[in-house]
Amino acid sequence: MIPKKGMIKVSDAFERIVHWFLAISCIILMISGLGMMFQSFNFLGTIVGGLKNLKIIHNFTGLIFGISLLFSIRVWWKEAGVFDFPDDLEWIKCAGGYLWHVDKVPETGKYNPGQKAFFLAVVIFGIIMFISGLIMWFPLGFSAGMVRFMFFLHALGFVVIFPFFFIHLYLGTIGVPGSAPAIFTGYVTRSWCEKQCPKWLKEMEEEGKLEVYGEEKEAPAHH
Ligand code: HEM
Repeated sequence: MIPKKGMIKVSDAFERIVHWFLAISCIILMISGLGMMFQSFNFLGTIVGGLKNLKIIHNFTGLIFGISLLFSIRVWWKEAGVFDFPDDLEWIKCAGGYLWHVDKVPETGKYNPGQKAFFLAVVIFGIIMFISGLIMWFPLGFSAGMVRFMFFLHALGFVVIFPFFFIHLYLGTIGVPGSAPAIFTGYVTRSWCEKQCPKWLKEMEEEGKLEVYGEEKEAPAHH
């Protein structure tokens, strides 16, 4: 997958590395977690030499997820962590045109409110997963009741992140065609940007910050 001339840079190498550390650790956690939780998935333990090994894989992957999450907050907070009212509210009211026909979908910045919701769910419930997981791993002086509550929080985080992941996977691939290159090469087409992040595109062009494949950086439109 090589970018074509005229494609627009939407993510740098660091952002893409952080995405894949977060994504792959999250997927390993979901699969290994299921393997420990349900008898019908216990065979996943057999593949790695027993449930004990599956637990070791799960716990250490959790540490990688925690670190990736910190970097993710740093990378995406400004563009995906804060809602931009009133524009985002208008987008939410028509569900971004994803669920029924909408003549004119309100323009969004780099990430739309749906993506912001996913990001925030991963941040909030990711932190809950990380802390509850650590306490389950090292109960130290915590009371039995407290540790049991951590098992509940851990399951709650899974119930939120797991379905959201499938929505993200679908939209990032076949749902919104042309998105996947954003986290593989970092470049997407201009028409994708015009539809997915028109406000961001305009801002970048005005500020002369837009990076176009095969072109020198554009000169600022005005100062
Ligand atoms: C293999 C599966 C995955 C694919 C194909 C995928 C695809 C994508 C794509 C295309 C984007 C860029 C969207 C854009 O620029 O508009 C993105 C962003 C992002 N991805 Fe993934 N992703 C996957 C798994 C994950 C997982 C498991 C997580 C976290 C638990 C995750 C977290 C994020 C976050 C936080 C962003 C940036 C903000 C946002 O779009 O909400 N991704 N992903």
